Amino acid sequence: MSNSVWRVKPVSAFEAEMKKSELKRVLTKWGLTSLGIGAIIGGGIFTLTGIAAHDYAGPALALSFVIAGVGCLFASLCYAEFASVLPVEGSAYAYAYGTVGELFAWFIGWNLILEYMMGATTVAVAWSGYFVKLLHLFGIDFPIWLCNDFVTATEKCEALGLAAPSFAFNLPAFIITWIVTAILVKGIKEAASTNNIIVVVKIAVVLFVILVGAFFINTQNWTPFIPEQVPVIGENGEATGAFKFGFGGVLTAATIVFFAYIGFDAVSTQAGEAINPKKDVPFAIVASLIICTILYILVSLVLTGMVKYDQLDKAAPVASAFSGIGINWAVFIITIAATAGLTSVMLVMMLGQTRIFLGMAKDGLLPRGMFATLHTKFKTPYKSTILVGLIISIVASVTPIDKVSEMCSMGTLLAFAMVCVAVMILRYKKPELERPYRTPAVYLVGTLGVAFNIFLMCFVRPDTWIAFMIWGVLGILVYFIYSKNRSNLQREHDNANTGSLDDIAKK
Ligand code: ALA
Repeated sequence: MSNSVWRVKPVSAFEAEMKKSELKRVLTKWGLTSLGIGAIIGGGIFTLTGIAAHDYAGPALALSFVIAGVGCLFASLCYAEFASVLPVEGSAYAYAYGTVGELFAWFIGWNLILEYMMGATTVAVAWSGYFVKLLHLFGIDFPIWLCNDFVTATEKCEALGLAAPSFAFNLPAFIITWIVTAILVKGIKEAASTNNIIVVVKIAVVLFVILVGAFFINTQNWTPFIPEQVPVIGENGEATGAFKFGFGGVLTAATIVFFAYIGFDAVSTQAGEAINPKKDVPFAIVASLIICTILYILVSLVLTGMVKYDQLDKAAPVASAFSGIGINWAVFIITIAATAGLTSVMLVMMLGQTRIFLGMAKDGLLPRGMFATLHTKFKTPYKSTILVGLIISIVASVTPIDKVSEMCSMGTLLAFAMVCVAVMILRYKKPELERPYRTPAVYLVGTLGVAFNIFLMCFVRPDTWIAFMIWGVLGILVYFIYSKNRSNLQREHDNANTGSLDDIAKK
């Protein structure tokens, strides 16, 4: 076994782990698809559509959804092949470890932290927006400083002609994070059936928005379809490099609504519970993405047709579109469904994060004591779940939603591009492997997937790029300072004659 950063975890080691898994295989192909849809539909469509249309794309929001959807489709086809070869729980991290090598896998895992943890953070902030709206429907109004981060609270107060607060904290986002954390510490099984009900409610509400909203479309709201381009000016008075409106704005909006698609890959973290993972996980990944893409394009057309884009509410755009046309009972239904629906996305995201940490810790790349210790009674990785909850609750309480969602999208875009690279490498290096699902025209689809996802990264705001680079450098440092020397493969290399990976893992 090599001590290079390109060492790969043998497929046989994955197979041995899969055989030992005690998870029950209960999920069918439509069960998996429903899980995928449950993870996908959330803050992206219910909240970020407001910012994306209002500030960047205008009525061309639907076009932004098409662009982001195409990038995701390429990535999903590559994910699907991997899921058929290695139906294991670590998702992209595990795929890369089995093919390209340890450092590459580590770096994907590091970016998946952005995807899952910042994803859950974004959804917590979105949840707060809908929850506050729900309370408002019951005549209860939260003070602005207690349901927003400082920047957003100041903006809102200024817009209302009120004095800016001296302190602000998003309490609902903080509380929902701890509720979800508590559910996950106790175990997801109880929540699984509730989750299925929430998925049905969520799809029903999205269909409701499309079918009822269609009657209230004013086609004049779609003109001009792409408003004229304006450069975004930063606080220092200089152009930031981003654009509002025009085709540049449509692309920036695509990077924002890209968030709405995140989650189809969460299906791959459920491979251990699938009845026929090699066939059904690839199916569910692609099917859930296609279904959501169609729903999203229709919702964005309806939304921008119902309300002029510059009057869309940024916190709860879907519900507000219906209050704008006076259907208040619909506002009630949408707000309740969105609040419940966002909770289920948080559950899947936080669950996915702890599973990925678990996989990395089992491989020796993260401290086992923290990330792989199971609760004696609940059998859940409680320590890492609480740590994840702690970080999310703090970040969600003090950070504006667009900042966290962009970090999430950056991490995911890079992880998707890396999966596309990895699937091509695996085809080249191991053409003989059994592949129940093969990515069609893999070298073309893989290359387009890399190009598309990297291209979208170029349209993320410069501030986000700086934060992302710092995150990346930190990841590489942690790998070389901690993980490389503690990896199971390194220890196997150091103890070449002392037994198998399993023996080492037990030590
Ligand atoms: N796609 C998920 C959402 O929009 C993360 O909330």
